[in-house]
Amino acid sequence: MDKFKTFIVNPNYNNIAKASYFIKNSDIIGVPTETVYGLAANAYDEFAIKKIFEAKGRPQDNPLIVHISNLNMLYDLVDDVCDIRKKLIDNFWPGPLTIIFPKSNIVSNVVTAGLDTIAIRFPSNKIFLELISCSNLPLAAPSANISGKPSPTSAIHVYNDLCGKIPLIIDGEKCDIGIESTVINVCNGKIQILRPGYVTLQDLESVFNYNIIVEDLSMSILDKNSKVMSPGLKYKHYSPNANVIIIDSSLENFKKYLQSKNKLTDCALVFNGEENDIDFNCYCYGLESDPLSQARLLFDKMRLIDTKKNIMNIYVRHPNIEGIGFGVYNRLLRSSNFEVIKIV
Ligand code: TXA
Ligand code: MG
Repeated sequence: MDKFKTFIVNPNYNNIAKASYFIKNSDIIGVPTETVYGLAANAYDEFAIKKIFEAKGRPQDNPLIVHISNLNMLYDLVDDVCDIRKKLIDNFWPGPLTIIFPKSNIVSNVVTAGLDTIAIRFPSNKIFLELISCSNLPLAAPSANISGKPSPTSAIHVYNDLCGKIPLIIDGEKCDIGIESTVINVCNGKIQILRPGYVTLQDLESVFNYNIIVEDLSMSILDKNSKVMSPGLKYKHYSPNANVIIIDSSLENFKKYLQSKNKLTDCALVFNGEENDIDFNCYCYGLESDPLSQARLLFDKMRLIDTKKNIMNIYVRHPNIEGIGFGVYNRLLRSSNFEVIKIV
């Protein structure tokens, strides 16, 4: 049964104060960030953290990211910063980069799912920063979706997933980036990308002038048999109700491929403008040449397709994997459960 009437509110001063009151009273709320919407709780409040896991249906062994609005908050949460992490902080915070640190003793095992490390992000979204500062607490926040579903990039997405389970969602309009932060680990003097995002391998390399090795493990750790470095990676993710199938081909071959498909039960997720040229039920997820436009639209379009009850298969045009496109491809790959059809 629903516990709450869920309100979507503007990010004015009174509503931020109200949200902060909820946080201090062990409630969890929906918040905008520059990446995707988060489901936030006081990171020091185990009772509230458990509510996050419950509301999302999130497996207990998948740790949360803790968000801060100043570096004093960081020093309470972590045991060691190290020179590489300092440089990452100087160059990429505030912003869409999550860094793994050795955790301090005061952080509950419920937040880190029993790991001795903690994932921390200093976001750049003004509304979220205001809420963290007003609460004067670090906020744990996973993406505000039901576990396994596409992440939310607008307040209404959060409402659709969590209505009745949370009291409040702060509406910060559509997210600027649209896919989750880049998650990185620092290990034996190397930087490891565990989840690709807006901050790319090239961005990281350019800061370290190639004297520090940056490895992208994000695609290899998608392989179910390899060692799980980031626990969230072993679960089904970003999945709409319909099957996602990525088609790696030219537009011409994509069109030919669709000829044998059922127009009533299947649809295509294509680049802007291509829909005019394809005789099929098409949805667009941005410009082929602009991966940020794809990141902004991908989850929104998956959620839109979910509202059409009859759709069973979504055939997706393969994105270019340069820059943030690599993050877009990573989300698509996981939502498709690695189903890529290559047509040459
Ligand atoms: O952009 C984002 O990062 C969004 C917004 C709300 O900040 N948050 C987000 O959280 O995407 P979530 O919970 O959906 O994804 C967090 C990822 C998971 O894959 C989790 O396993 C990983 O970060 N993670 C958290 N703590 C970790 C740790 N100590 N070591 C390795 N991976 C960790
Ligand atoms: Mg998530």
